[in-house]
Amino acid sequence: MSSTFGTAFRITTFGESHGGGLGVVVDGCPPRLALDLEVIQRELDRRRPGQSRLVTQRDEADQVEILSGVIDGFTLGTPIAMLIRNADARGKDYADVARAYRPSHADFTYDAKYGIRAIAGGGRASARETAGRVAGGCVAQALLATRGIAIVAWVDEVSGLVADVDGEIVTRDDVDRNDLRCPDLAIADAMIARVEAARKAGDSVGGTIRVVARGVPAGLGEPVFDKLDADVAKAMMSIPAVKGVEIGSGFAGTLMTGSEHNDLFYRREDGRIGTRTNRSGGIQGGISNGESITARIAFKPTATIIKPQETVDRDGQPTILAGRGRHDPCVLPRAVPIVEAMMALLLADHLLRQDRIIAVRGSL
Ligand SMILES: Cc1cc2nc3c(=O)[nH]c(=O)nc-3n(C[C@H](O)[C@H](O)[C@H](O)COP(=O)(O)O)c2cc1C
Repeated sequence: MSSTFGTAFRITTFGESHGGGLGVVVDGCPPRLALDLEVIQRELDRRRPGQSRLVTQRDEADQVEILSGVIDGFTLGTPIAMLIRNADARGKDYADVARAYRPSHADFTYDAKYGIRAIAGGGRASARETAGRVAGGCVAQALLATRGIAIVAWVDEVSGLVADVDGEIVTRDDVDRNDLRCPDLAIADAMIARVEAARKAGDSVGGTIRVVARGVPAGLGEPVFDKLDADVAKAMMSIPAVKGVEIGSGFAGTLMTGSEHNDLFYRREDGRIGTRTNRSGGIQGGISNGESITARIAFKPTATIIKPQETVDRDGQPTILAGRGRHDPCVLPRAVPIVEAMMALLLADHLLRQDRIIAVRGSL
């Protein structure tokens, strides 16, 4: 029943969609780290509902309050608690969901597991839970920035329409240039039209997000079970609606020969060892190799749709359910900052774990 992620740098999130509020406790963050509340709020604004016509129209300001662990803009080294209150919760929209299970949502499985659930808004299965991750991810990103590590994610594909961008140079400004968060302006309008068409049809669409972490030093990742790629997959798969994760070349690599796929080593101008290509996605043997960490994450089409669909009620009796309330016709635009946050959280954790190894190595 754990809601905690990480070992050296840990977050615990709390809250349900229609409860009093949501938030996060960040533990293990070093003291004296500069933390800007405005930066945290800006990231929450990128995740917030109601930010454009492409996302759910639930109107939440998602204003963050820091309750502990920070004084005068600096971390104290003590647990950092952040709270985001729910304001626009409409429980009546979920009367049908109390009766019948939404296809491909978490209603049935929460009942099967706990025998009780917070019905309105999907309770803890709601993507509102991820507000705490984004707030905690900002602390992680502040820590990573002190070591020159930066993370960017963007919408890569919507329902078969694929972006073509150079992932090594994409910036967050490029990504935020349109409501969809796709930096390829040649395809972004077509993607937006596809999401709008799905919304008008009472349906939904899925797609993929790419993420790149630049400036990651070689050496992060713990053999054998906490390999960096294993933890990237776990971090991303923990995001609601994620159905797949690729690291580096991913499934496309299976179509290549070894001689085509291998990343050839060379000595860089600065003397460091690098690779000429990055099909490994910056990870070999579960340990970062100093190249950018790259991953691609698949999101399914939003489960709750307005179109009526067959389902059953709690007694297994067949019934028809048409979604009501406010829902994302495509989760991708709001998922971009969540993907960045999860990448930051796992890298901050592995960075602190590697710091300990380096300290011990240095003392021997
Ligand atoms: C940013 C974001 C927004 C989401 N919005 C909705 C939504 O409006 N309606 C919905 O049914 N699911 C939404 N989801 C997905 C559900 O939370 C998710 O499908 C559900 O918890 C079941 O989990 P699973 O899809 O991982 O199996 C969203 C997910 C994300 C990442």
